[in-house]
Amino acid sequence: MPITVVVGTQWGDEGKGKCVDVLAAKADAVVRFQGGNNAGHTLVVGGTKTVLHLIPSGALYDEVDCYLTRGVVIHPRTLLDEIRGLAECGISVSKRLFISQRAPLIMPWHLELDAAREGGEGAIGTTKRGIGPCYEQFAARQAIVAGDLLDPDRAVEKIERFYAERLAALKSLAREHGTDVDEYASVSQAVERFRRNYDDVYTEMVDYVCDVESILQRRIRNGDDLVLEGAQGTFLDVGMGTYPFVTSSHTTAAGACTGAGIAPRDLDSVVGICKAYTTRVGDGPMPTELDEDSAVGKHLREVGHEFGATTGRPRRCGWLDLNLLRRAVEINGCEKIVLTKLDVLSGLDELLVATDYDDDGQPIYETLPGWSQRITGVRHPSDLPSEARDYVQFIEDHIEALSCRIHQVSVGPDRDQIFSLRQET
Ligand code: GDP
Ligand code: IMO
Ligand code: MG
Repeated sequence: MPITVVVGTQWGDEGKGKCVDVLAAKADAVVRFQGGNNAGHTLVVGGTKTVLHLIPSGALYDEVDCYLTRGVVIHPRTLLDEIRGLAECGISVSKRLFISQRAPLIMPWHLELDAAREGGEGAIGTTKRGIGPCYEQFAARQAIVAGDLLDPDRAVEKIERFYAERLAALKSLAREHGTDVDEYASVSQAVERFRRNYDDVYTEMVDYVCDVESILQRRIRNGDDLVLEGAQGTFLDVGMGTYPFVTSSHTTAAGACTGAGIAPRDLDSVVGICKAYTTRVGDGPMPTELDEDSAVGKHLREVGHEFGATTGRPRRCGWLDLNLLRRAVEINGCEKIVLTKLDVLSGLDELLVATDYDDDGQPIYETLPGWSQRITGVRHPSDLPSEARDYVQFIEDHIEALSCRIHQVSVGPDRDQIFSLRQET
């Protein structure tokens, strides 16, 4: 499958990083097409954990190239820290990490704006990484992009032209919240700050910047295997998610095309990652949410280690919602699902699965029997307890009409804790 898109089918943290790392074993390159360092993608190999926020999840393979396309918003210091962190673990991305010249840069005022908004009534529980304000400035056709680092005077001109609008917004929010209006840089201070950051940080990024979208076109014509790695999840999509409790990019498969400059007809397969239950970080609706103090809520959070990989916040936990999964399969055109964290359900007496909503939007559940055995060592479907097999089959029965099947089941965080359900490729 030369061009494979991987997307989350829920509210993020489905285990995309792990699944991309597994797919990357056979790929030539992994491509991030949206989001920024709001993402936290966890890879575990032989018990060693790596959390990536920006660098694509192909990083652990020396021979796999990593691309950040125009759809990704880049916080330079985070990126450079991540490059250094990998180098300290003996992983070099030099000469195999490429950053699009078109990618917007997250600037200090984007973080300040995000924090200021989150301090007031309109808060939605963002990661406060400046993601929304950066995409806004891009949509306003005013972004400072990675290519501007090749000519810092161009970036300075943009700051001189466009920062005043952000400064006004910052001051207005500060006034509204009764905080210090003067703590924000003036236009000339913002320019100074940029020049300082340029010398200390941004120059280090310059060598990675190139015309990524044209390179990807050449690689596609060359028949290379590319994995397009989504961040966040379908219901955090700025258009199709639970608006306004969403992120600010297109997290769905179509976002891979616009985010990486790739034509829809060049996509060969869309793989949806679905957790065996539901989690969400931040505010917004979650129909199958369990009380955090309930026995099952605690079980999912503790056994599943459901704490954000980016902010460390406890994730809200709930039963699997097949209404969401079906919708995600439709929106993304998923042919395959990888079901993750099935092992976390071991030890629950019974499992509820939402199959529909009633007229009030409340989930209608079916109850399935649970299993007590640990399944983290299972590598073949026939070794699963029959109840676990039935749970997987139950899910598949609800998506088969959409020409989608469960392809693989993941039973632990490690790269090798995953198996295919059938012999097909
Ligand atoms: P992502 O944002 O979709 O890449 O997911 P995260 O890395 O934020 O969160 C998924 C968490 O579950 C990480 O801690 C993974 O190491 C872990 N994980 C992934 N797959 C499995 C699995 O099948 N079982 C268990 N127990 N943990 C898993
Ligand atoms: P990965 O790629 C889970 C959520 C935030 C918040 C909303 C908007 O690891 O799955 P933002 O900072 O993007 O403006 O926040 O989106 N959010 C995520 N939730 N996983 C993520 O990424 C997320 N990235 C953003 O919690 O509700
Ligand atoms: Mg995550």
